[in-house]
Amino acid sequence: MKDLILKYIDQNKDRFVEELIEILKIPSISTDPQYAGDVRKAAKLVLENLKQAGADNVELCETDGHPIVYGDKIFDQSLPTVLVYGHYDVQPAEPLDLWDSPPFEPVVKDGKIYGRGTCDDKGQMFMHIKALEAMIATDTLNCNLKFLIEGEEESGSENLENFITKEKEKLKADMVIISDTSMLANDVPSITVALRGISYLEVELTGPNVDLHSGVYGGTVGNPIDILCEMIASLKDENGTITIPGFYDDVQTTSDEERAEMLKIPYDEEKYKKGLNVDALKGEAGYTTIERNTIRPCLDVNGIWGGYMGEGAKTVIASKATAKISMRLVANQDSKKIAQLFTDHIKNIAPASVKVKVTDFHGGEPAICPTDSVEIEAANKAMEESFGVKPICTREGASIPIVALFDSVLGLKTVLYGFGLNSDAIHSPNEHYGLFNFYKGIETIPLFYKYYRELKQ
Ligand code: BES
Ligand code: MN
Ligand code: MN
Repeated sequence: MKDLILKYIDQNKDRFVEELIEILKIPSISTDPQYAGDVRKAAKLVLENLKQAGADNVELCETDGHPIVYGDKIFDQSLPTVLVYGHYDVQPAEPLDLWDSPPFEPVVKDGKIYGRGTCDDKGQMFMHIKALEAMIATDTLNCNLKFLIEGEEESGSENLENFITKEKEKLKADMVIISDTSMLANDVPSITVALRGISYLEVELTGPNVDLHSGVYGGTVGNPIDILCEMIASLKDENGTITIPGFYDDVQTTSDEERAEMLKIPYDEEKYKKGLNVDALKGEAGYTTIERNTIRPCLDVNGIWGGYMGEGAKTVIASKATAKISMRLVANQDSKKIAQLFTDHIKNIAPASVKVKVTDFHGGEPAICPTDSVEIEAANKAMEESFGVKPICTREGASIPIVALFDSVLGLKTVLYGFGLNSDAIHSPNEHYGLFNFYKGIETIPLFYKYYRELKQ
């Protein structure tokens, strides 16, 4: 079977990339309403591709936001059914001047395809559509498949929760597979078994009712920018520990055995720093870099502004200052509870010289996948066969909020079967995806279904 699939990939490899490029050209930026038309256009093209690949019952499902693409291939009710999830929306491409080639004019260079969404997640999602095509063409399908490809992942999957709650029957399956995460390296394949949750809020401080002359009023009023900086600085102590009361109450502690196990993960701190061009790393005292990124929560300012931000100098005390703040959460923390603790604390520490407004944007729960399941065993076997080495299980620091909901709403466990690399610059300028990774994904996915069928029955 592997040979049939490999041969099919080889005969069609250039066309696969050409088709992906057509999807990549559409700026389906879900967070910005200005691009709603493009988001829909991308959905329709994904739908067309799914149909072309041979999926049945293909439809565009409307939501209160961007549409969801559905399609399936049910050929034998007695076989297991796998729900394939992916997203066709992308992050904004700014800052545009840092791209070497325009984000929505994809180019292939040095064995990699460059453009927004190449890795996250159009390229990875498209591997599943091409794997479907290859399996149908070579008559090697081993599981029934259902495809759920959404357009709001990058803005919090707000309408997807509703959809899966309403469409339980339609989405009935045995498990979920998602390719939207990373591997450790091309010669160190890995399977992601945990993702962090997230709470994302915006804090707006208002001082005086108008922008003031910073000399005429300087020294007499609370400056909202100064105060916002002081407040943010106080959210962590000198050990990098978050100071919000109750923040760590629910954090699951990791056993010494598990922490020792984590030390075996190949990781080169010098290389890590070099790749980011930093001289030193920073994080919570008492934990390694990998631990800080996976089993410990963190808090980061994602954007901060106020006052005069143009060229040159303007003497002003701004009326308002604003910051966007995210907290990455780990097992047993609850995103709504954390958002509430954060809001209460911010209001509590704000001095009387400013008024505070806190807006809760979106949240998502951490995802933990059991490692002793037939799903992971099948994922391991398939990767071992296609890469020629045994994959290792890793946790990752980013979030895919729908994973926890697949579990709690549909009762489905997920295999996080990503083929990207952390160096693929997702969400950053010059995002790219290796052709090696793209084709390896298309090769490995059918093998996964083969082993899953064997192990499940
Ligand atoms: N695909 C990423 C998540 C990811 C990236 C997992 C790399 C593992 C490795 C996803 O598209 C993403 O960016 N998620 C957001 C979620 C947020 C918008 C709710 C994130 O983590 O910031
Ligand atoms: Mn993604
Ligand atoms: Mn993303």
